Amino acid sequence: MGLPTALGLSELGWDVTGADSDSEKIALLRAGRAPFHEPGLQELLSKQHSSGKLKVTDDIEAAIRSVQILFVCVGTPQKENGEADLSQVEEVAHMIARNLNGYKLIVEKSTVPAITANWIKRTILRDCDAGKTKGAARGSNPMGRADRNSHQPKFDVASNPEFLQEGSALRDFFQPHRIVCGVETDSAREILEQIYQPLNCPLVMTDVRTAELIKHAANAFLATKISFINMVSDLCEAIGADVSQVAHGIGLDPRIGADFLKAGIGYGGYCLPKDLRAFIHLAEQCRVDFSLLKEVERINQRRAEAFLAKVRQTLWVVRGKTLAVLGLAFKPGTDDIRESPSLKIINRLREEGAVLRLHDPMAMPNTQRVLPEEPGRLTYCSSPYEAAPGADALLLLTEWDEFRQLDWVRLRDLMALPILIDGRNHLNSEEVKQAGFEYICMGRQSERALHSPAISVGPAVPTV
Ligand code: UGA
Repeated sequence: MGLPTALGLSELGWDVTGADSDSEKIALLRAGRAPFHEPGLQELLSKQHSSGKLKVTDDIEAAIRSVQILFVCVGTPQKENGEADLSQVEEVAHMIARNLNGYKLIVEKSTVPAITANWIKRTILRDCDAGKTKGAARGSNPMGRADRNSHQPKFDVASNPEFLQEGSALRDFFQPHRIVCGVETDSAREILEQIYQPLNCPLVMTDVRTAELIKHAANAFLATKISFINMVSDLCEAIGADVSQVAHGIGLDPRIGADFLKAGIGYGGYCLPKDLRAFIHLAEQCRVDFSLLKEVERINQRRAEAFLAKVRQTLWVVRGKTLAVLGLAFKPGTDDIRESPSLKIINRLREEGAVLRLHDPMAMPNTQRVLPEEPGRLTYCSSPYEAAPGADALLLLTEWDEFRQLDWVRLRDLMALPILIDGRNHLNSEEVKQAGFEYICMGRQSERALHSPAISVGPAVPTV
């Protein structure tokens, strides 16, 4: 989130300093190289790098002293109990307190539980009280200098949650559906209005806690939509309906909306699973019985098993079977594999003794770090055509666009058995059946190949 935000702000004309304690990352950025894949990121980085508008540094304290508006984008990983670990946010608050050399607007961008801004404020005030910094009086001069006559530190804390999605981060930055800002003072509101005014989208101004809650509620609602459609998917399989058509039919109602109704192997990534757990934890702390969210999480955890049931139902014994797997990233457009549903499934198939041949357009290097190659058992392949030879089935686990353009006849000829299990309902079933595949997807009963009756599968077993 930090890098797309920094690049976006510099493209809007601001002088931006990107600070990170990870010197390796900073060295890469200094060389003009993006440290991860995100569409358009490398191009914008090269542009801002040569224009000199974006500086990068690993000296965070110097960076704090040199600017007036600080966007805090540090990680908020989860603890074992699901609670957000805010130690990086606290560390930044201490650093800010040590380097408060004038008015600063501290903008919390990381996803944090409602009340974090308050903690940032208390931490800075406490540090200042303890004489660790020389404060300046709080006044109405938002972009100006510190008031040296007062011992009150001069800063505001605002919440400006980020809604960008991996794979479309820059598009989301420049064409947001809305921007939410939680502020406590007119100064903070004016600065944020000035920053975001060129983006020309609804600006939702609230108090700080409300803004923090909007972010959590948004991600929890998206997760709820996905788990809802996944349960509908199981029901569709059981009664012989088609979940994609159900989603289309309900999604045309603007009260429901068409997005986030794709059934499949469940949601993953760094945000939705973690934020949902943090929200559940927050509700528990507040003694609010938000049991709906616990069920959303439980349904999601069962999705890998629902997919594995299809694999077993199709292939019977998994041990010793060769499976070509297309897709490792938690979603297309990214090389991110954190909490990827695909990896959960791969790990289970590996435990069950399948021979796995994996391919992903972007995420293979990241996957190799956590799942090293095992000759004869787990191999990384540079293309779907390299993964397919001798495979008893092809599993599609991430819906990359390029997987729609494959030469299915060629793939079928390479495989031992023409079986395709699509965990994302991504492919055109007529096309793959025409090529001779038996096509199994989510939320619909399996479909035989149009010209090849060779494979016989038992009756569908509902996974409800
Ligand atoms: C999510 C939110 O969508 C962003 O709005 C938010 O800013 C971000 O988290 C964050 O908190 O930083 P992201 O993690 O990039 O964004 O991923 P999503 O596009 O939300 O997808 C999450 C998972 O849900 C993926 O595994 C995806 O495959 C799955 N998904 C999504 C479905 O299974 N079905 C759908 O219909 C949509």
